[in-house]
Amino acid sequence: MLENERLWPTVWQVAAREEDIPRPGDFIEFRINHYSILVVRTQEGEVRAFHNACRHRATQLGRDGGSFPTGRIVCPFHGWQFDLHGKCAYIYGRQGFRPDAVDDEQTSLKPVQSAVKWGLVWVNLDPMAPPLNTYLGELPQFVDPLRMDKMQVRWWKQIRLEANWKIAQEAFFESYHIMQSHPEMALWADGDEFRMDVLDALNPRVILHDLGHWAHNAHAFDPAAIPDDHELHASRSNAEVLLMRNRAMWLGAQATMPEWAYEIQEKLIAEGVPVDDNFGRVLTAKVMEEARARNIPLPAPNPKATSWAHVFPNLTFLSGYGSVLMYRSRPVADDPNACLYDFWSLEIMPEGTDTGRPVQCADDFFEKMWVVQQDKGNIERQQIGLRTMGYTDNRLATNYEKTISVFHRRLDQVLAENSE
Ligand code: FES
Ligand SMILES: [Fe+2]
Repeated sequence: MLENERLWPTVWQVAAREEDIPRPGDFIEFRINHYSILVVRTQEGEVRAFHNACRHRATQLGRDGGSFPTGRIVCPFHGWQFDLHGKCAYIYGRQGFRPDAVDDEQTSLKPVQSAVKWGLVWVNLDPMAPPLNTYLGELPQFVDPLRMDKMQVRWWKQIRLEANWKIAQEAFFESYHIMQSHPEMALWADGDEFRMDVLDALNPRVILHDLGHWAHNAHAFDPAAIPDDHELHASRSNAEVLLMRNRAMWLGAQATMPEWAYEIQEKLIAEGVPVDDNFGRVLTAKVMEEARARNIPLPAPNPKATSWAHVFPNLTFLSGYGSVLMYRSRPVADDPNACLYDFWSLEIMPEGTDTGRPVQCADDFFEKMWVVQQDKGNIERQQIGLRTMGYTDNRLATNYEKTISVFHRRLDQVLAENSE
């Protein structure tokens, strides 16, 4: 598979959340197809990554996630031990080996580049790859203001989808599908009256063509961000659209808005606060006030903060009110017709909150998250259509689906560039 040789070994990608390995000795295994990477937290609190293979005879050292309580990575096969920096610390029956076959260079775990940013652990299998910050280019200007580094997991779920990883993530690249796929979220849509192009084309957007990343740099549904002459809907105010969108995202995804902020919104409505041009600002002011009272370090609204962004090749997120709904899509077991998809709902919790290591939410909770369930169905159906003999080509709407072409252009470049 071309991507296996030229894409996954060359890009920076998210291997874990920092919370997955909170204490020294904690580890998590990250798999991307048949590549396995071991990510550990050292005694000094730093993150290190290694190819997950013993230097004796390649046995996988860490499986899934857990802890090396003694601070030693112990190979389950013949008991070789490694410290958390990857140096071999013990070889059982060392005298049985030729000394030059077991010197430090021969026995240290092979390192993988890693970095910590936005509360995430990133890895790059290419030892010569430029650092993560270079890879991200201008993107951090728009993502840093969200303070994702302060977020913790509200809920998380990993599912297998019967679709290629690219198809699975493209479903979250455009809002053109909202009207048909998420009727509860599109209560305002009425035929062609809903101005989808206001969201996808006219709303300020940053596209880093050369890097394949993109970011909407204003809240897509923030009335203040939409020019006056671009009404979303003829018969509903932009503030009404904001209200309905917030409701759908809370009730249908428990995401992009903390519960307490949702309650503030509903209280304002119950009190009769008018849903006019000022509503978004009133809500934001109340949310900021409540965050201070709850000791939640919510960042102040920032016109540069992105509402919706993508890091090439496989990380996408939506944000709002100190929360992020983040998606990661990746192939599984070298099967081009299936992928693993992670959904994380993140939010900034009160200072000092320890949510512990994230555990996946129950199936029945996830099944109630109808916003994501609706997308899931389409993704698998699209994969079936793509494999019919009748599928030959696509049509993309210039005004709504440009992000898909940006992604594929960069993907094609990477596959071509890394062909030597
Ligand atoms: S394979 Fe690890 S000690 Fe033998
Ligand atoms: Fe969707």
